[in-house]
Amino acid sequence: MSGKPRKVSIERLASMSRRGEKIVMLTVYDYPSAVIAQEAGIDIVFVGDSLAMLVLGHESTVPVTVDEMLVFMKAVARGAGTPLLLGDLPFGSYLSPEMAVTNAARLVKEGGMDAVKLEGGEEVCDIVEALVRRGMPVMGHIGLTPQTSSPHGGYRVQGKRADQALKLVRDAQALAEAGAFGVVLELVPSEVARVVTQRVDIPTIGIGSGPHCSGQVLVWHDLLGLSDSYGKHVRQYADLRGATLEALGRYAGDVRSGRFPDEDQTWHMTDEEREIFARTA
Ligand code: KIV
Repeated sequence: MSGKPRKVSIERLASMSRRGEKIVMLTVYDYPSAVIAQEAGIDIVFVGDSLAMLVLGHESTVPVTVDEMLVFMKAVARGAGTPLLLGDLPFGSYLSPEMAVTNAARLVKEGGMDAVKLEGGEEVCDIVEALVRRGMPVMGHIGLTPQTSSPHGGYRVQGKRADQALKLVRDAQALAEAGAFGVVLELVPSEVARVVTQRVDIPTIGIGSGPHCSGQVLVWHDLLGLSDSYGKHVRQYADLRGATLEALGRYAGDVRSGRFPDEDQTWHMTDEEREIFARTA
């Protein structure tokens, strides 16, 4: 029996992870991309605060607000109903459990998200508990946490030392105990990601953390080659920047040389109307 594909649920993600079936997550920021991501069968469509840099042109994720995130979430929710829709709580929007509950409820109610993501380990577990208690599913995010990365030495691999790696294992376990349904591991050594994945009973989603996670996430612009620089963890599946530059260059050349538009892109009056027009104009 064919029909509408079934909505991806948190239970489905958990059972995929138990069966060893990899979860595919992708950042998506607008309506047309959401339509394509759904058609491609992406499991988790994630409106990440990376849009602060990639779409809004900020230097970091810090300045983006809940109101700004909501504009993108609404557009994505209009385009994709089947994947699990995950919305990022931006920097400063979950400073207390009460604040987190208020803002997360907006992402769900106004933004159309199914679940929210926040950064941090043991220190955010009270917030995770508060959200889960009020019916809002939460994904954690540990390792490199871009919202607070500058004070910790910028964008680099986290947990290379054994004590740091042990802290990551504890963070992931604490998030799972607090009720998180999954956890992103960003820029963590592969052997650490493997142990974290073995020790928690929730899916781990890796980015730059090797192949042992329950799933992987990539950023839209990185995957499609729309960025101007790429980390080692990125595999570029297309060169849309190159293709776009080439198309824009051809368009500009055609306009300037008079080759665009031609008869194929042009409408005409009927002979009769043209004659009347010529007589009366
Ligand atoms: O906002 C984002 O794009 C992220 C991914 C790196 C997981 O948090």
